[in-house]
Amino acid sequence: MSVNLSQVIFSYDTSRKARLSGEYYLKVDNLNIKDTNEFIAIVGHTGSGKSTLTHLLNRLLIPQKGKLVVDEKEVTKRTKLLPIRKKVGLVFQFPEYQIFEDTVLKDVSFGPKNFKLDNPETLAIEAMETLGIADLKDRNPFTLSGGQMRKVAIAGILASKPDILVLDEPTVGLDSASKEELLEFLKYLNEVKHISIVLITHDMEVVTKYCRRAIVLKKGNILYDGDSLELFRDEKLVEDAHLDYPHLTKIMIELKKKYNLDIDPYKYDAASAFSELEKALIGGKHE
Ligand SMILES: Nc1ncnc2c1ncn2[C@@H]1O[C@H](COP(=O)(O)OP(=O)(O)OP(=O)(O)O)[C@@H](O)[C@H]1O
Ligand SMILES: [Mg+2]
Repeated sequence: MSVNLSQVIFSYDTSRKARLSGEYYLKVDNLNIKDTNEFIAIVGHTGSGKSTLTHLLNRLLIPQKGKLVVDEKEVTKRTKLLPIRKKVGLVFQFPEYQIFEDTVLKDVSFGPKNFKLDNPETLAIEAMETLGIADLKDRNPFTLSGGQMRKVAIAGILASKPDILVLDEPTVGLDSASKEELLEFLKYLNEVKHISIVLITHDMEVVTKYCRRAIVLKKGNILYDGDSLELFRDEKLVEDAHLDYPHLTKIMIELKKKYNLDIDPYKYDAASAFSELEKALIGGKHE
């Protein structure tokens, strides 16, 4: 299964005037996301169209032009949307807005019930157990902490067993331990449960540590779609898209320039950066 956007143009303003002006919020020539083995970061300056792009992936927004193809079938006005929403699960930028029932269990069961899956409560409890929040099942979700609420929202999507899980800045506002726990959990879903993950993030450390592919947006256009590590080798692109470098890369680039070192600065973990520096400084010999 895969999701494909082709020749898509989307604008929030649907007036005739806007249509004639040719202005748009998002333009996607071709984007393909598979249902297994993908771990994609969507990055770009604020307002570049990241959330809009994810809303187009499961037809939460309808493009003015272009095609959405899910599972090799074109989505048209007549296509039933529930099966698409089940395949592509979306956790919103502010997941607390996604919560509305008065107990956690009811809220997490809503998706599987809505999609008419068998045993929705069992699926909900399984998802809550995976996220370590089964003990919250009888609590009112609105009395939970921000981090707990986010887990409830994620469990709500996960309970419906999506093939592709799309998360809009899921780590914002979490402390560093919860952030790492959530990312490791996504890695587990990706590697063990084979769910494709699409993650909007402003954190370049997350891009290099967890993601294999990166999509860079600028003013509604895709500037780059490729390997998440190779991305940072293109200095012009990083600057053009107003991206940061990962901290370590920033230091390595500075050291290379300042001391004219013969190193590859694009080493994304401390051990390989250290051995790259060691090689250049003492010729790789350590006695
Ligand atoms: N509901 C809306 N109505 C009109 N314009 C909108 C709406 N939502 C977003 N926009 C505009 O569309 C553009 C893209 O917005 P989008 O929310 O996709 O950006 P983003 O990359 O997710 O930004 P951020 O990093 O701040 O979340 C922006 O110019 C924004 O102002
Ligand atoms: Mg956004």
